[in-house]
Amino acid sequence: MSQIYKIASKTLPEKHIVCIGHLDHGKSTLLGRLFYDLGKIDKEVMKRVKKYARAFGHDKFDFAYLMDQMKEERARGITIDLGHKKLETKDTSITFGDAPGHHDFLRNMLVGAAESDAAILLVAVDEGIQRQTEEHLFLAKMIGLPQVIIAINKMDLVDYQKAPFEKVKKQVTTLLKKVGYFPEEIPMIPTSALKGENIAKKSKKMKWFKGPFILEAVEKLSSKKVPSDLPMRLPVQDIYMIDRKPVIIGRLLSGVLKEKDEVLVFPKKKRFEVEKLFIHNQPIKKAMPGDNLYLELKGLKKGLVKRGDLITFAKEPPVSAKKFKAQIITFGLEKNLKKNFKFNLDLNVQETPAVVQKVIRKIDTTSGATVKGRELGDNEAGEVIITTKKPVFIETQNSLPFLANFRLKLKEKVVGLGFCLEIL
Ligand code: GTP
Ligand code: MG
Repeated sequence: MSQIYKIASKTLPEKHIVCIGHLDHGKSTLLGRLFYDLGKIDKEVMKRVKKYARAFGHDKFDFAYLMDQMKEERARGITIDLGHKKLETKDTSITFGDAPGHHDFLRNMLVGAAESDAAILLVAVDEGIQRQTEEHLFLAKMIGLPQVIIAINKMDLVDYQKAPFEKVKKQVTTLLKKVGYFPEEIPMIPTSALKGENIAKKSKKMKWFKGPFILEAVEKLSSKKVPSDLPMRLPVQDIYMIDRKPVIIGRLLSGVLKEKDEVLVFPKKKRFEVEKLFIHNQPIKKAMPGDNLYLELKGLKKGLVKRGDLITFAKEPPVSAKKFKAQIITFGLEKNLKKNFKFNLDLNVQETPAVVQKVIRKIDTTSGATVKGRELGDNEAGEVIITTKKPVFIETQNSLPFLANFRLKLKEKVVGLGFCLEIL
């Protein structure tokens, strides 16, 4: 038993933050710097990274190398995969992802962002908004990233002056509004990732700036798993037989679940009472959104509940649908997506064959505007109508984002992300 609980504790929810933004605007450097300044990079790693940097002909040490660990990344000086690093602060555990800025690597950026609670968007002060700045921000909004922090970076190049910062800040404010974020709620921070200004501590070089530094802003972010006032949704990930008793494993997506609650398990609508709840290896009385749970239900027999079922309360029944309108974005597609495109829809442990019935419109990924055409190529976005072979538990992004986002798969390969706009 303890063995299994150990596995569960490894997948505990945390704050996930992803760095996004145009090529070379300093995403990897910012993260490298943050970890370095907090003393999280040990001397051996530092030595090794310096050696690599020299081997690739970069004589000056580059913080980006701390994040860019793949060989090709170091050689080309760009990020390809999504590097992850974990940081434990006083009260949270934060995992940072470093997304690639290059357009070809959009897929990795999207997969990274889809798993995140917030993004740090970097904009180099000398270049201002560029294509991938717009694209990343638009896509972040589209996949439902609720929170953003803006780092206006490379402030050392403009002598830490306020005027160039204000100029770029104005551009960014316009872009945020256009994409659908509220600029008033978003911290915009002048930084130098290279020199460590306003990253892990307050900069003395930019006294004119009264806002938070990056780490401070990150700590203030709430986790998106917080909404406990939403309907309770717990998809069944797996069932283990432990001491001949079935134990359900799953992550509470929204709502609050307590011991002795009466739950309804869909699709069979079987009623059970919650007998025991565990998180880590500890019994708990009350589970909150984001908790990975072990759940024992009174009277549950083997075979009554299976992977893909959904645990809810009778007063908040789920929506089951076979047809819906969705916004999707493709990546790694080999042939165009158009009417009758067949794929596997993967939605939070539910998987079923699905078909695109219609492409309603194609969307420009840098602005959200409608563009001509009814076929989506690679790295393109659109609004579509989808039908599924089996009914799925799905909700609209406005009502329950955790059950609105899905993946499009061909065999096992993820070729797109989508979210439900409307049940039809
Ligand atoms: P991709 O992963 O390829 O999209 O790039 P990136 O956004 O991760 O940029 P990266 O951190 O690799 O930095 C690109 C270059 O900009 C490197 O040479 C950095 O040293 C430099 N750089 C990053 N931050 C700063 C900064 O604050 N000031 C200055 N002057 N240079 C910076
Ligand atoms: Mg990078």
